[in-house]
Amino acid sequence: MKLAFIGGGNMASALIGGLIAKGARASELSAVEPVAAARRKLAARYKVHASAAMDVHTSGADTLVLAVKPQDMRTAVSPLAGALRGKLVISIAAGIRLKDLARWLGGHAKIIRCMPNTPALIGAGIAALYAPPGVSAAEKRRAERILAAVGKFVWVKDEALLDPVTAVSASGPAYVFWFIEQLAASAVALGLPADVSRQLALETVLGAAKLAAGSKEPPAVLRERVTSRGGTTAAALAVFEEARLAEHFRRAVAAASRRGAEMGEEFGRDAGKD
Ligand SMILES: NC(=O)c1ccc[n+]([C@@H]2O[C@H](COP(=O)([O-])OP(=O)(O)OC[C@H]3O[C@@H](n4cnc5c(N)ncnc54)[C@H](OP(=O)(O)O)[C@@H]3O)[C@@H](O)[C@H]2O)c1
Repeated sequence: MKLAFIGGGNMASALIGGLIAKGARASELSAVEPVAAARRKLAARYKVHASAAMDVHTSGADTLVLAVKPQDMRTAVSPLAGALRGKLVISIAAGIRLKDLARWLGGHAKIIRCMPNTPALIGAGIAALYAPPGVSAAEKRRAERILAAVGKFVWVKDEALLDPVTAVSASGPAYVFWFIEQLAASAVALGLPADVSRQLALETVLGAAKLAAGSKEPPAVLRERVTSRGGTTAAALAVFEEARLAEHFRRAVAAASRRGAEMGEEFGRDAGKD
């Protein structure tokens, strides 16, 4: 596999670092990145070829990973239209739909869409992928190999499901950070020192996630085990119940999913056409 990244920022660096750690050769990887400092960083850290525009090296790749911000995508990919024969394109951009990408890429059909999340930066990501019917099983394995370098992955059968995926696992780290903030702030409000509060909140989330990940029991059962009748946890959960927190939470995640769909519409517009 010869892989070229279009955009050499955070996500591309995480994927390049992960692939090299898993045994990929630096000579198999390259990046197109307009910022000189980012190019120097990639070359110094991973010894990969990085250029300001497509060149002989990046054009020789059989797989292109589109790793620019959604708002830069149309400009970034338009020079590629007509030069993609036989190549697999993998987009990791939030929101940009296959039909828009395919149009910007001059009708190219071999495109996989993928939604990673920020824990990929430390090799603990979870990504969802969608491939349209024109993508072969071998090409899907190629995308899996790339994503497996920074964490786990799942496939979805319908592109529209990438909006709820975005709401759950791509926005999800922010919900968890918010929960850590709130737990720590509650600890401070009850008289604990700030540093102790932060450590208690952080380690609780980390430990509980590890416990849930390593357990055969569903989270609901693990929760019930911590909740003795008339006890402290039951007192807190009763307040959640009274405030209908579960219902609010579902509304919040649904709002994120709706916003994902709207952003797809916005980013996919061709200026002056619609
Ligand atoms: N970070 C995440 O956790 C995360 C999670 C899920 C999905 N994603 C998706 O991953 C994509 C990349 O995110 P990121 O965090 O890695 O962004 P980033 O750090 O901003 O990296 C994007 C890089 O692409 C460069 N670029 C801009 N226009 C370009 C062009 N025409 N050709 C080549 N390179 C160009 C940017 O340069 P400038 O700085 O000059 O703009 C920047 O260095 C986004 O679409 C995002 O939706 C990211």
